[in-house]
Amino acid sequence: MLKVLFVCLGNICRSPTAHGVFEYKVNQRGLAERVITDSAGTAAWHVGKAPDSRSMAVASNRGYQLDHLRARQVRPEDFHQFDYILAMDEENLANLKSMAPDQYSATVSLFLPFAKGLSQAEVPDPYYGGDKGFEDVLDMISTASDALIDYLNKQHKL
Ligand code: 4NP
Repeated sequence: MLKVLFVCLGNICRSPTAHGVFEYKVNQRGLAERVITDSAGTAAWHVGKAPDSRSMAVASNRGYQLDHLRARQVRPEDFHQFDYILAMDEENLANLKSMAPDQYSATVSLFLPFAKGLSQAEVPDPYYGGDKGFEDVLDMISTASDALIDYLNKQHKL
């Protein structure tokens, strides 16, 4: 089993979107028995909450359900239990590295660069912006999710 953890700041906008979209695509490609998906935040502010209603609405319009997801914070054991821990932006990545135990097995990196054609490396925080920001987040995450599945397929012969 390959385990992938998506990480943002609050675990209510970007990483639950990545969680739901990537998991949906994994299932569609017949890889549900091979890949486990989860998401978490570097901050604890929203622990236990459902995703932001704007993230759920944009996802639902495109056929992705996020309603069942609940926010949690990154835990030290995540660095041993997951194969890939993928951050939405550089700040999340820096926070992850400061939360990591001395030794760990996970590959910790940015998520977006798995999609080679995208002009940016970070998924911008949509929380304080308008609806367009949430649409853009979903577009980027959708493209990078396809690219990540292709990468994992090649790398791990799923
Ligand atoms: P996320 O967005 O990191 O994509 O879940 C945010 C959610 C909440 C806050 C900031 C970003 N906040 O400041 O509460």
